[in-house]
Amino acid sequence: MNILVTGGAGYIGSHTCIALLKAGHDVIIADNLSNSKRDTIKKIESISKKEVIFYEVDVSCEKSVNNIFSKHIIQGVIHFASFKAIGESVQNPLEYYYNNVVSTMVLIKACENFGVGKFVFSSSATVYGNNEVPFVESMNLLPTTNPYGETKVMSERILIDVANSNPYLSVSILRYFNPVGAHESGLIGESPNGVPNNLMPYITQVAKGKLKKLSVFGDDYSTIDGTGVRDYIHVLDLADGHVAALENLIEGVHIYNLGTGKGTSVLELIKAFEEVNLVEVPYQICGRRPGDIDSCFADVSKVARELGWRAKRDLLSMCRDAWEFEKNNQEICLNVSEE
Ligand code: WQD
Repeated sequence: MNILVTGGAGYIGSHTCIALLKAGHDVIIADNLSNSKRDTIKKIESISKKEVIFYEVDVSCEKSVNNIFSKHIIQGVIHFASFKAIGESVQNPLEYYYNNVVSTMVLIKACENFGVGKFVFSSSATVYGNNEVPFVESMNLLPTTNPYGETKVMSERILIDVANSNPYLSVSILRYFNPVGAHESGLIGESPNGVPNNLMPYITQVAKGKLKKLSVFGDDYSTIDGTGVRDYIHVLDLADGHVAALENLIEGVHIYNLGTGKGTSVLELIKAFEEVNLVEVPYQICGRRPGDIDSCFADVSKVARELGWRAKRDLLSMCRDAWEFEKNNQEICLNVSEE
């Protein structure tokens, strides 16, 4: 199939493009490079040994999106393009609502207008709010603690209502847990601009000496060792999950958790990373980060039952691949200041 991948130059998007190309699909990437780099497109092509079509566009712009749909026969859309930093969303809520929600509306409207029947949406476990773990797709969503999470809840709502009103449209909503790791080539991986918000890239930059010490945000949560528990999933497994969702997409709306079903604490992740990579990650215990929850991990029985997909890679390979990428990653971190 000919698939439009928005945000395809990003961390999860680029790994998914490679999985799509490997599965024999063709890929058109639309990305405004606001949080990704143009040379990732070349890396996707060199890893997959296939060409991709690339448009540097903002997918919240209806004119730009319609231009792509009018030039290509598109059989499916995977929509990754969105802002995703929680703290930033609290500072600039309107930017987040506009970018994340309008882009979803523009794309699903283009699918209706151009007769594209398959739409896969990149959602997040954040939509569950402070529900009881493990999170199950049928749960009532609780208010999230930030505008970023609300943009995902709103986008899901819009997609569900539009798909229910249009029998021709099939939608798969994928709720990610915590994607980490990198492609085994070490060529692509998580390379955030500036000081990383997420745990794993912060750990790899401390291990490499780019940053001095990891701040562990709180050790007074009700978890195994007091530090935050999350469901870390290898980005390659996540990419395979998208191909499975796309290729098995039938009419209607389908919501799936993409996680491993296992919870790992911050201290457990640090220990695993140090052991498998034979490096040290100095850290200090600090106060909680506003908006964080104690535990977040998935019930993954529905995706296994309906799509026959399970995460295959373990925590050690996540840590190993993340470290391999960091060691190869020559991007200089400009103006990195310790907080
Ligand atoms: C993981 C754990 C922190 C950094 C977010 C979004 C989610 C998804 C993934 C987009 C927590 C602790 C972190 C640090 C720390 N993004 N931590 N020191 O917050 O679970 O999820 O990113 O889709 O939607 O919510 O990920 O990696 O920031 O934090 O102690 O420097 O590590 O408190 O317990 P999070 P994270």
